[in-house]
Amino acid sequence: MKYAILVLGLCTTLFFSGVMSAYGTEDDSSDNVIKYRQYVMTAMSNHFKALKYLVTGRITQPEQWLPHARSIVDMANMIESAFPPESDFGDTDAKEEIWENKGDFNQKALKLIKASEAMVRLIEANERDKALEQFKAIGNTCKACHKKYREL
Ligand code: HEC
Repeated sequence: MKYAILVLGLCTTLFFSGVMSAYGTEDDSSDNVIKYRQYVMTAMSNHFKALKYLVTGRITQPEQWLPHARSIVDMANMIESAFPPESDFGDTDAKEEIWENKGDFNQKALKLIKASEAMVRLIEANERDKALEQFKAIGNTCKACHKKYREL
């Protein structure tokens, strides 16, 4: 019986330490934050590149436009929180200016959110003739932020 309680206690401890490391801050070290946001950026970038193949007619998969456009919106919504304070040290291309102008940086992320939401709306309305232009508008919001806040 004592043994069973001991095992149960051990399992509970292990379970909660697992939950803590999944959700807590102990593993949110600068290195992990940087790696994670680079994966988010790359994921967004791949949706963006895939969408380019669709809107330029290189690939004919009309039903796949929307999931890529929505994924860009989803990823763009992660940008603001992907650059917390103190995450400017390590293997990163993020410039320090981000944290000196976080308001402006978030504004640039918002422009991407708005441009990709507009893309979702026009695909939903089946106004695909406007998609290439909107795709370029999205690309300009990426460039505007990188130019100021990313080491090239
Ligand atoms: C609000 C600013 C902002 C916007 C908007 C933005 N980016 Fe970025 N992006 C960054 C910053 C800053 C980095 C550098 C992150 C790091 O190295 O920690 C980055 C990094 C990247 C990377 C490199 C990831 C890696 O593995 O190092 C890619 C690819 C990328 N962005 C693509 C895009 C694309 C495509 C868009 C538009 C659809 C976009 N970004 C929009 C700020 C932005």
